[in-house]
Amino acid sequence: MAEPEKDEFTGTMTTGHEWDGIKELDTPMPRWWVWTFYACIVWAIGYMIYYPSWPTLTDHWKGTSGYTDRKALEEELAVRDVERAVWYEKFTSQDINQIAKDNELLNFAMSGGKVIFGENCSACHGSQGSGAPGYPVLADDDWIWGGSLTAIETSIRFGIRSSHDDTRISDMPEFGDDMLEKDDIAEVADYVLALSTGKSDDDANEEGKEVYEEECASCHGEDGEGGRESGAPRLSDGIWLYDGTREAIIKQVTKPSHGVMPTWEDRLDDVSIKQVAIYVHSLGGGE
Ligand code: HEC
Ligand code: HEC
Repeated sequence: MAEPEKDEFTGTMTTGHEWDGIKELDTPMPRWWVWTFYACIVWAIGYMIYYPSWPTLTDHWKGTSGYTDRKALEEELAVRDVERAVWYEKFTSQDINQIAKDNELLNFAMSGGKVIFGENCSACHGSQGSGAPGYPVLADDDWIWGGSLTAIETSIRFGIRSSHDDTRISDMPEFGDDMLEKDDIAEVADYVLALSTGKSDDDANEEGKEVYEEECASCHGEDGEGGRESGAPRLSDGIWLYDGTREAIIKQVTKPSHGVMPTWEDRLDDVSIKQVAIYVHSLGGGE
């Protein structure tokens, strides 16, 4: 260990460390660095006094600010509750049509509705409402019971042939049960098939048309346009709740199937029902 000395090239003192004639300079820290360092120490001391910090033998220093994580979280949650209460207030006090006109509420409905749909509806209606035989596609603008916001909300809230007192309900008669002859059923099935492809040539199937007008038109409409009061699907398009084959139509006329959609009033709150109704409405492009 040599004595520290002034280095003749830089004018800086050496530390006295020396290896094979190479000496270590004792370059001082830059001023700004040193002052920043001291400032940090002062700041840290202040911080430790202000906030909870050091452990004591039995507890810990609570800080002069009175801050605790738990209190901070409670405050945050309280703010969120207030915010949410505002949304809830708007959703519950307004009609679904008014809600959909408000862009902010609409966005809130869409994001919430998507999640609610995924959790509660997609099991039957397919993801994004793609549908399955017996479970109507919700992502088109072909509606059995109506595609307005209000109609969709009603379908969801009260269900279809559900256990709710206000459920939508209607039954297609069992024509195979002595109401129509087998031949008549076959004729009318042919007529419906022709209707669905837009090729109904009334003269070609006079009998089928007659049966249709007598037995079916009251629910499904003169031209097969469907009847929403009776939940009778449109037959004049190629969109089928069940199946569009001749056999399927004969089966439906002979011994009809009836879809059941649960009521959601007891399972989802008012806000969620409106959210998911708005989401469903958007899937079909919004009738
Ligand atoms: C258990 C299966 C099932 C679940 C779950 C279900 N649905 Fe349905 N839904 C049906 C069936 C079946 C129909 C068709 C009823 C009929 O034949 O008229 C239907 C019909 C509908 C309709 C009417 C469609 C139209 O064309 O008028 C809407 C809207 C609808 N569902 C929305 C929903 C929403 C939103 C949810 C989730 C909150 C949901 N459904 C959950 C079975 C289900
Ligand atoms: C009282 C009203 C009513 C009458 C009358 C009626 N239907 Fe229906 N029909 C319905 C309803 C309601 C459904 C839908 C069942 C469901 O949602 O599960 C339906 C469904 C159908 C379907 C299935 C449609 C699809 O998209 O899969 C066919 C086909 C059909 N009816 C044909 C007929 C024919 C043909 C007649 C006359 C012989 C007839 N219906 C008479 C109410 C009626």
